[in-house]
Amino acid sequence: MEHSSFPSAFSTLFGELPKETWCCSDLYKWEGFWYTSSHLPAAMAARLNFQANDSDVFLTSSMKTGTTWLKATIPTIMNPIGRMDDDNNDPLLKRHPNELMPSLEVQLFKENPNPDLSYMSSPRLFRTHIPYPMLPESVKNSACKIVYITRDPKDTFVSLRHFLNSLVTTHGIDPWPMNEAFDSFCRGYWKESIKRPEKILFLRYEDMKKDPKGQLRRLACFLGRPFEKEKEVDKVLWRCSLERLKNLEVNQHGADPWLGFEYKFYFRRGSVGDWKNNMSNEMKEKLDHITAIKYEGSDLGF
Ligand code: A3P
Repeated sequence: MEHSSFPSAFSTLFGELPKETWCCSDLYKWEGFWYTSSHLPAAMAARLNFQANDSDVFLTSSMKTGTTWLKATIPTIMNPIGRMDDDNNDPLLKRHPNELMPSLEVQLFKENPNPDLSYMSSPRLFRTHIPYPMLPESVKNSACKIVYITRDPKDTFVSLRHFLNSLVTTHGIDPWPMNEAFDSFCRGYWKESIKRPEKILFLRYEDMKKDPKGQLRRLACFLGRPFEKEKEVDKVLWRCSLERLKNLEVNQHGADPWLGFEYKFYFRRGSVGDWKNNMSNEMKEKLDHITAIKYEGSDLGF
C-alpha cells in the first residue's frame, strides 16, 4: 500500500471497501468504480480539496484509449508556441506528453491531499482517469472544459495488456474488472456530454484515426482556440503524431516517475482493430456481449 502519507480516515475506509486482486495490484471499489490502492486516496483527496478554475481544461479517459495523443495535442493547441512556425520551440521535443498535463490522482494529489497548485499558470491543463460521478464538484459546476476520449474496448484491452506486460511479464491478466469499470464510467461522460456539449467534448479514438483533421478542428473549437489556417492543422497533427512522438529522443529513454512505466511504452501501434491480431473469437464475443449490455439504451457502441 502506498497511502501512508494520507490521513488515517482513508486507511480505515480501505478495510471496508470491496477488494479484488487484478494483475498483481489490489483494486478497491469506491462508489461503484475500481481504483488501485495508491490512486484511491488521491482520487478521494482531489474530490474533497481540488478547486477548478473556469479556464481549466481536463482530459479524462480510461487507460489505453488514446490519452497520450491528447496529452500532446491539447497543450499544443492551447500553447501559442505550439502553433508557431518554429519547430525548435516545440515543448514535445523536451518533455514526454505525461509531463505536459499532470494527473490529479497519479501525481498532484498522490503524496499531498491538499497540494499548492498556485505555481501553475492559466489555462491549467489536467488529466484524470477519475469517472465522471466522482470528479470534484467544482470541475462539474465551473465553466472549465472537459475532453473525454474513448476507444473500442477490444483494442483498449489489447493495448492495456501489452502495456502491463511491459512491466509485468510473468503474470496472467484477468481483464473483466477493469473493463467493467471502463464501461461504466464511459457512460457517465457520454450522458453528460449529450446534456452539456459546451462543457464536455466526447471523442472516439477511431474517429480521430479516420478523420484526424475534422476531429482536431472540433477539439480546437471546443477549447476556444479554433484554427485560422490549414497549415496550423497540419502542423499540430504532425507534431502530435504517433510516428513523430515515438521516434523523438525524449520519449525513447526514461520512465514515468509516478507509475514506473518506461516512456517508450506509451507509443505502440496505434491502429484500429488490432484486437483481431490478439484475441480469439471467443474472447471477442464475450467482450462484445459485455459491451452491448453496458451500452444498452445509449447510442454509444463499437
Ligand atoms: P496501442 O497499444 O493500440 O498501439 P493511452 O495513451 O491512453 O495510454 O493509450 C495508448 C494507445 O494510444 C496505444 O495504442 C498507443 O500506441 C496509442 N498512441 C499513443 N500516442 C499516440 C499518438 N500520438 N497517436 C495515435 N495513437 C497514439
